[in-house]
Amino acid sequence: MRHQLVTVIDFGGQYTQLIVRRVREQGVYSEMVPWQSAAEHIAKHKPNAVILSGGPKSVLGDGAPDLDFSLIEGIPTLGICYGHQLMAHRLGGKVKKSTEREYGRRTLTKADPHALAGRLSSDQVWMSHGDQVLAAPPGFKVTAETDTCPIAAFENPAKKQYGVQFHPEVSHTPDGRTILQRFLFEVAKLDGDWTPENFIEEECERIRGLVGDKHVLCAVSGGVDSSVVAALLTKAIGDQVVCVFVDHGLLRKNEAEQVVETFTKVFHPHLVAIKAREQFFSKLKGVTDPETKRKTIGEEFVVCFEQHADELTGCDFLAQGTLYPDVIESGSPTASKIKTHHNVGGLPAWMKLKVIEPLKWLFKDEVREVGRTLGLPDDVVDREPFPGPGLAVRILGEITPERVKITQDADWIFREELRKHGHHQQIWQSYAALLDVRSVGVMGDERTYEQPIVLRAVQSEDAMTAQAVPLPFEFLEHVCNRIVNEVDGVNRVLYDLTSKPPATIEWE
Ligand code: XMP
Repeated sequence: MRHQLVTVIDFGGQYTQLIVRRVREQGVYSEMVPWQSAAEHIAKHKPNAVILSGGPKSVLGDGAPDLDFSLIEGIPTLGICYGHQLMAHRLGGKVKKSTEREYGRRTLTKADPHALAGRLSSDQVWMSHGDQVLAAPPGFKVTAETDTCPIAAFENPAKKQYGVQFHPEVSHTPDGRTILQRFLFEVAKLDGDWTPENFIEEECERIRGLVGDKHVLCAVSGGVDSSVVAALLTKAIGDQVVCVFVDHGLLRKNEAEQVVETFTKVFHPHLVAIKAREQFFSKLKGVTDPETKRKTIGEEFVVCFEQHADELTGCDFLAQGTLYPDVIESGSPTASKIKTHHNVGGLPAWMKLKVIEPLKWLFKDEVREVGRTLGLPDDVVDREPFPGPGLAVRILGEITPERVKITQDADWIFREELRKHGHHQQIWQSYAALLDVRSVGVMGDERTYEQPIVLRAVQSEDAMTAQAVPLPFEFLEHVCNRIVNEVDGVNRVLYDLTSKPPATIEWE
């Protein structure tokens, strides 16, 4: 059974992945495809509906992102912002070039009560655009305006084509969800057949078809994603999966022991635990550049897997817990590369194992839902995300055993206190990072010249954006006192207030 598909064509907009999320929240499967590959994708996957994203360019500019509308003839289509303008431009309307951007909240007026954008519980919408649609294409009716935008929405219901200049996917358009719901269920008449149960069933079938009678090496870290992959593979192919845990010495304090214990208890008595601390530390000696660290670690993981794949079972496949945001942020034709997520871009070209990534199209909250449906316990499913390269991306500068210990000890204190005071419930991720600068301090009448620890605690929905958690000052002061008093080598503690963007969640 194949589920229905809504394809979001990405014209480089900053909210494109959010559109995908909003559609999936309605129980409809959605994928994002760069505009350059839209033709191929549409021919191959025959989507049930199409959404055209926003984008930073002008439809009138040279080499502007484009679409051949004959490819989507007859498919229900919703154009958002740039997508709305492209629809006007390509279907015979008129777009006016503008050098100024309109950015912010606006109020919809004259909204047609029978239209997609009519009868909303709030008329507030979020605009972020430069060019304006001056005339709707023939056959289209203008259905809403704002004081600055005379064609804020238009539609041609006979052709199932709809356009909105504003962004229904962002929370600043309070009732944007209704527009998406109407488009999905009233216009495109979709069923909402995207559920964790269906995902599990389809993915198990796909894995069985792909793997046949071969063995799969499943790399587990104790984190949510790899645990869900392990459970999914176990359901799909049973004993053909061999779970391997590599202790690279860059986990949090006591974590390696905990992972082995939980994993053995919860799912698989058969877990191969590889102690590779020295191996990783020797490869990382002298490495300070963040991308080189990531690549070194990614490569060393595969060295470990390949060594053990032959020795253990002759595995042909390597399964990893790559998620959709990892794929997006590791670079696509339209998005720039932020960092090499070790499980996406860090794999060496010489690797013989073939990669399976069953969660590659899911966001974190969807992975958690799948995990719960597979029967994983809450303490596994609700764990904070932890990066594959571990503390290496939280220790700036060189990785040494001493610097790892400092970070582990500070991190332990911070997270212990967060739990003790009940703050952990509002947190997506929290950790201590070690900086590679030194500062002067005074302790017990002696001069100190030590490294600072940075505490980071963020709230997030899907790791694509994040905000610092407003922790009480007294709490932070208490944690700071504990760290400088209990952790040798630290004489200063900072709290990172930066959101993502412009920062990222991890420091490297
Ligand atoms: P950033 O730092 O890019 O992190 O804002 C977003 C989320 O991804 C996690 N992260 C990783 N996870 N392998 C992973 O499995 C990696 O290489 C990696 N790098 C970052 C990070 O902890 C956050 O949840």
